Amino acid sequence: MSFSAAWLELREPYDLRARNGAVIEALAARLAGRPSVTIADLACGTGSTFRALKPRIKARQNWRLADNDLSLLARAPESSPPDIHVTAVPIDLNRDLEAALDGPVDLVTTSALLDLISDQWLQRLAVEAAARRLPVYAALSYDGRIEMTPEDASDKKIIAAVNKHQRTDKGFGPALGPEAAKKAVERFERVGYAVVQGPSDWVFAPADREIQNEILSGWAAAARETGDVPLPEVVDWLTRRRDMVAAGRSSIRVGHVDFFAAPTGTR
Ligand SMILES: C[S@@+](CC[C@H](N)C(=O)[O-])C[C@H]1O[C@@H](n2cnc3c(N)ncnc32)[C@H](O)[C@@H]1O
Repeated sequence: MSFSAAWLELREPYDLRARNGAVIEALAARLAGRPSVTIADLACGTGSTFRALKPRIKARQNWRLADNDLSLLARAPESSPPDIHVTAVPIDLNRDLEAALDGPVDLVTTSALLDLISDQWLQRLAVEAAARRLPVYAALSYDGRIEMTPEDASDKKIIAAVNKHQRTDKGFGPALGPEAAKKAVERFERVGYAVVQGPSDWVFAPADREIQNEILSGWAAAARETGDVPLPEVVDWLTRRRDMVAAGRSSIRVGHVDFFAAPTGTR
């Protein structure tokens, strides 16, 4: 599954605003006092998590930005010596997750990835992170909640279809979709991690027209692909929703969860 740089750029300010502050504070507290940290950012895109965390970590930072999309990696940030060092790592994380975690890594980060992955891959991530005693920060996992105001008669059907589409294979096997964050917290707790979690919902106000239109089009396409909602109903729904956006009457909230999972005790 591929993601355009334009879409990642459009969503980044909303992601930044949505990221859960308490979760980031738990991460920063864990790293406090270290002179330098090496961070493996999984599925980095163009570096959204790098940009969000860079000012929050008071240490020299060595970032390994990993993604399989070379055109996104090419847009990743450059090093700014002496304190920030960035290496782009082209890698298929479905095939080679372990290679992305190997070496002197202090922290694993990711954002907007876990809802794309399968339960099997999640288990692999938890086991491999635990084997290396690596703390993990995972931001912006979609949790299945969509609220649109004003309501429309077809919203429920469309949302159900979107959540079904979320479970289809995105390159890692059948995706966890809305279950991802809950499952991930369970998996990390089972391998002995302490988890701090909190909501990171997108909140789009009537003025946020561009992102609302993008999201609505994406949901219409997903609903259509499932075949669960007749095409004319999808098209009419999208037309009515877009009219509300154009009239400055539409607000949308999309539920997300962030967490920071850290190994406890000694082994
Ligand atoms: C929703 S985007 C999130 C990007 C970035 N973390 C952000 O928050 O803007 C998902 C990312 O996962 C990457 N991705 C998907 N499948 C992958 C795979 N098998 N190996 C590595 N990266 C993958 C995509 O290229 C994309 O950059």
